Amino acid sequence: MKISIVSFLVSACVAVGVSAKMVPGYNQTRRPQVHFSPPVNFMNDPNGLFYYNGTYHMYYQYNPTGITAGNQHWGHATSDDLYHWHNQAIALSPESPDEGIFSGSAVVDVDNTSGFFGNQSSSNPGIVAIYTLNTPSKETQNIAYSTDGGYTFTKYSGNPVIDIDSNQFRDPKVIWHADTKKWVMAVALPTQFSVVFYTSSDLKTWEKASTFSHHGWLGNQFECPNLVQVPVHNSQQQNSGEYKWVLVISVNPGAPQGGSFTQFFPGEFDGTHFTPEDDAARWVDFGKDNYAMQFFYGTQNKTLGVGWASNWQYTNIVPTSPWRSAMTLPRQYALWNDPVLSWQFISNPTDMSTIMKKNLFSGKVTKSQNIKLGDGSGAYYFDIYVSQDQGQATQRANFTFISSSTKEELRIGLLMDNGPFFFIDRSGTKGFDYPLFTDKFATIQYGGIGGWHVYGVLDKMILETFLNEGEQSATTTYFSNGVLDKLSISLDSGLSATVNVTALSSGWDQ
Ligand SMILES: *[C@@H]1O[C@H](CO)[C@@H](O)[C@H](O)[C@H]1NC(C)=O
Ligand SMILES: *[C@@H]1O[C@H](CO)[C@@H](O)[C@H](O)[C@H]1NC(C)=O
Ligand SMILES: *[C@@H]1O[C@H](CO)[C@@H](O)[C@H](O)[C@H]1NC(C)=O
Ligand SMILES: *[C@@H]1O[C@H](CO)[C@@H](O)[C@H](O)[C@H]1NC(C)=O
Ligand SMILES: *[C@@H]1O[C@H](CO)[C@@H](O)[C@H](O)[C@H]1NC(C)=O
Ligand SMILES: *[C@@H]1O[C@H](CO)[C@@H](O)[C@H](O)[C@H]1NC(C)=O
Ligand SMILES: *[C@@H]1O[C@H](CO)[C@@H](O)[C@H](O)[C@H]1NC(C)=O
Repeated sequence: MKISIVSFLVSACVAVGVSAKMVPGYNQTRRPQVHFSPPVNFMNDPNGLFYYNGTYHMYYQYNPTGITAGNQHWGHATSDDLYHWHNQAIALSPESPDEGIFSGSAVVDVDNTSGFFGNQSSSNPGIVAIYTLNTPSKETQNIAYSTDGGYTFTKYSGNPVIDIDSNQFRDPKVIWHADTKKWVMAVALPTQFSVVFYTSSDLKTWEKASTFSHHGWLGNQFECPNLVQVPVHNSQQQNSGEYKWVLVISVNPGAPQGGSFTQFFPGEFDGTHFTPEDDAARWVDFGKDNYAMQFFYGTQNKTLGVGWASNWQYTNIVPTSPWRSAMTLPRQYALWNDPVLSWQFISNPTDMSTIMKKNLFSGKVTKSQNIKLGDGSGAYYFDIYVSQDQGQATQRANFTFISSSTKEELRIGLLMDNGPFFFIDRSGTKGFDYPLFTDKFATIQYGGIGGWHVYGVLDKMILETFLNEGEQSATTTYFSNGVLDKLSISLDSGLSATVNVTALSSGWDQ
């Protein structure tokens, strides 16, 4: 296995699209330009996401000394728009080689409930990070506080704040519950398929409130629980003005598509107990590369989240260097109780106006159309409405991203045969071959507003697709040897499409 990793590294080191004003180190062939990735080395779960006064903070599971998982620290980056990121110094580090700073969350302690904060001004509030400390004997919940707005942290001298003498107890996500005026933590007992809720007035003393166990898709472990309030829509697009609670749980290993995935439960939360609408298992993405998603603390009535765009089945060996992994696009979430599909977690990329660069094609396609991709960072936004002017039994619409140098293909499209199905096929990209790197995904896609709406972002090693106003979504990594420089659209008779393709500028342009 080591030998093949080395050859991947060599083949991935050819740079394209070098821009003088780009943050150094972000110009490799497969380096995503509008999805966050760490400068070097291995990254996994997003941690401690919070927003305050114009700045988004994202911490992440980070191995600063290697390109595979291990030696877990909290890396850190900040952004004003969730697309242009500034790498910051590592925020939390272990005290010894056998410790790991595992996943967790962060809150803005504006009222100094923790008592950690002296003369903090409102422009520089106290931040408290809540994380799992992993040691060879156990996992405990610990806290650290920052008096400089989240850049540097001091570990609390009274740690751990929760110790149940378990080595399977991790990923605390804390929110403020306004109705009961308490902090609420959701934390996983992974091998017991359980999420435990604790409450606290000061972030230091925690009281166990309830346990939510054996619901939905069990897989082999529950991780990274997130409890969040989400706006409810009364159609795909329309906000009803109501809110509902959603509990999100990541499962690894043992996901339906293999490895890791994220499921969600719509329901109610009264400050101590979460009651799901029903016991169904529902996934966030139908692809295979969206895990450990977390929501931003402090975005008021917007529910914004980021996931880790990889899968534990192959994350340690994918052919990128000198870094591994990226985050999903930042997405805004809503809930809709679709009369046919039941509860859907609607997600859409957050406002992309700061990276929209140049329209490459805009128009109607009746049979076929080749669109040359270029004039940007190598990342593209595409937006396609397919309409069925005349129904036939087995109609198909192909939207294929092609490398003109290697003839590799990344295929997506619609198949009306007993469907309609939307499909993703990454088997035609040849840079990575591994038995668990599943190459085909599909979901049923009923016609939506104005036809079948398919849109998303192609970003050098990640394809993120959204269907029908975000009702369904998939994050799919791919590893082509050549640059995908053409979008080929081909429709069976009876179908037509309205197509819009826009080159995106790099989030790493300074
Ligand atoms: C990336 O761009 C920099 C200039 O910003 C250049 O020095 C470097 O050689 C490029 N990287 C590769 C791998 O070509
Ligand atoms: C924060 O709480 C601590 C402990 O109660 C207290 O000593 C400190 O003065 C408080 N800071 C502010 C700004 O109120
Ligand atoms: C807090 O602010 C007050 C008034 O500005 C000042 O007198 C005091 O020394 C400050 N305390 C600390 C710990 O900085
Ligand atoms: C927000 O940040 C701006 C600077 O970007 C600062 O002037 C202002 O005081 C801050 N406001 C609060 C409430 O933190
Ligand atoms: C914001 O959300 C809360 C529920 O969390 C709701 O009570 C409130 O009305 C919402 N405010 C606005 C402006 O939508
Ligand atoms: C779509 O692509 C497949 C091969 O991937 C091909 O067999 C089929 O004819 C194509 N259909 C259209 C309408 O281009
Ligand atoms: C295509 O996208 C561009 C850039 O977002 C936008 O200005 C334009 O209105 C879009 N055109 C269509 C037909 O959707």
